[in-house]
Amino acid sequence: MCGIIGYTGSDPAVPILLDGLKKLEYRGYDSAGIAVQTKDGLHMIKASGKVEHLAALAAQAPDLEGVCGIGHTRWATHGSPTDINAHPHMSADGRFAIVHNGIIENYLEIKKDLEEKGVVFASETDTEVIVQLLAYYYDGDVRKSLTRTIRRLEGSYALAVLCADVPGTVFAARMSSPLIVGVGAGENYFASDITALIRHTKDVIDLEDGETAEISPDSVVIYDRYGSRTEKAPRHILWDIAAAEKGGYDHFMMKEIMEQPQALQATIVPRIKGGQIVLDSVELDMTKFDRILITACGSAYHAGCVGRIVIESLCRIPVEAEVASEFRYRDAVINEKTLVIVISQSGETADTIAALKEGKNKGASTLAIVNVVGSTIAKLADQVIYTWAGPEIAVATTKGYVTQLAILDLFAVWAARKLGRLDDASYKKLVKGLKALPAQAQRALDLSAGVKRLAALYHDRQSIFFIGRNLDYALAMEGSLKLKEISYLHSEAYAAGELKHGTIALIEPGRLVVALCCCERLYEKTASNIQQVKARGATVLAVAQESKRQVYGEADHVLQVPDCHPLLFPVTEIIPLQLLAYYVALENGCDIDKPKNLAKSVTVE
Ligand code: AGP
Repeated sequence: MCGIIGYTGSDPAVPILLDGLKKLEYRGYDSAGIAVQTKDGLHMIKASGKVEHLAALAAQAPDLEGVCGIGHTRWATHGSPTDINAHPHMSADGRFAIVHNGIIENYLEIKKDLEEKGVVFASETDTEVIVQLLAYYYDGDVRKSLTRTIRRLEGSYALAVLCADVPGTVFAARMSSPLIVGVGAGENYFASDITALIRHTKDVIDLEDGETAEISPDSVVIYDRYGSRTEKAPRHILWDIAAAEKGGYDHFMMKEIMEQPQALQATIVPRIKGGQIVLDSVELDMTKFDRILITACGSAYHAGCVGRIVIESLCRIPVEAEVASEFRYRDAVINEKTLVIVISQSGETADTIAALKEGKNKGASTLAIVNVVGSTIAKLADQVIYTWAGPEIAVATTKGYVTQLAILDLFAVWAARKLGRLDDASYKKLVKGLKALPAQAQRALDLSAGVKRLAALYHDRQSIFFIGRNLDYALAMEGSLKLKEISYLHSEAYAAGELKHGTIALIEPGRLVVALCCCERLYEKTASNIQQVKARGATVLAVAQESKRQVYGEADHVLQVPDCHPLLFPVTEIIPLQLLAYYVALENGCDIDKPKNLAKSVTVE
């Protein structure tokens, strides 16, 4: 969940490290630090708070001159976000400095062992054992010491290491935590992801689990898990720096909300050729499966809940959706007749990776829906379909989520056709519906000004309920999560029909209920639930399709999204909910792109 950068070249390291950390801050932002090789050995500064604060400290630190260094932005796991617990960590002898992303599960055992040998620890972190081990094993050969150190570690790590004895070199190691090498001219980099490097280079090498690497200004050397030197060709990144910048918006989240029509276009259009859905990357015999299990976390799981309904409805195969953190430990009955679909924007979510491995171990076929090319999940799964959303920086996913919906829709229609369960007319209608989604999403964005006015009216509510049935319920879960994560308002999503079995006790005069009413065939049922909450004094904000004019008679406020195919409307229905979360958070003065306690990529359990 933390962000790592390493640099070696001929330019001053500090501005490069700080700029990289600003780009990586969305991965964690409770503290930050840098270490630089100077003519007097290793020097570091670190502090709790955001990178901006670190930059201010760096501006006053005279002893940070050097052309090789490492940096880190942290999401605390072991030890609170204090100055001492911030990374880098240095060995007691000052010879080594490291930054780490991941968790060392056996750190207590290693710490005890080293303490018995006289090593004195400065921090409460799991990370510090790594740097103290490096120093303990060091006999003049850093690579040997690194190899011995990582052999002792259980858990996950992406590490960047400086040694005072080897000027101009940064060492690195990876296990279950993302790390890439950025290949430049006369300079090279390590980073947790491309956003930190794109300003400097578009050529990157993905490190694999078990690999270690060393960079100097003119060389990149990689060793495989057995310690043998290995050659890896860089891949060229196609997107450019603008994709990783705010481009005139106040927040990445708003930029990404507004980019949704383009992201949908990029995800859907190339996959429809001559009126047919073509999923080039997928080789699956759909007749083999008697069950599909979709598993993911957070918003990706909510996308899976939409996918469950759409796939089951079209393919007539039983489909379940389950959060990955539960599925991985449930010992589920799955076998070679099961298709396990995992969904992940980052491709690095720890629980989703574990769920994918669980599916594979039990003989299921696995299909991943992923945004980040070359990510762990993309590499592990048998088949991958990429969402072409482009880089998503805001912690709250928006374009990542809608493109996941689009892929699930494409897959459902494709699979149903393969299974012979869609007649020509229905197939054509769905393909037409899919092609229409980018333009419909564009029209849904026109609701922005109206949603902003509603947010000004309701931002101070104690609690907001989201209700809906069927696909609307899956959307209620995502709308509620969006609001919670960036505005910190309490919110609950309820299946509209379930409300009266207890939760309606919480409905009182003035309570805002967001009623999702796009599911045409269940509209009358949801309308009854609207009446039930209104009878108890609730204020109702309804989201419905444009043709549903009677909704004006039911709700206090109405947001209307374009009419879509009855299975495809979630792509547009989520847009006013994203806007509502955004504007409520804005009204409440929240840090929208960096909500408290969260991080973009959840690489720990
Ligand atoms: C969404 O707004 C969240 N920040 C979060 O729920 C996210 O969807 C979840 O952590 C899964 O991430 P992934 O898609 O990268 O696997």
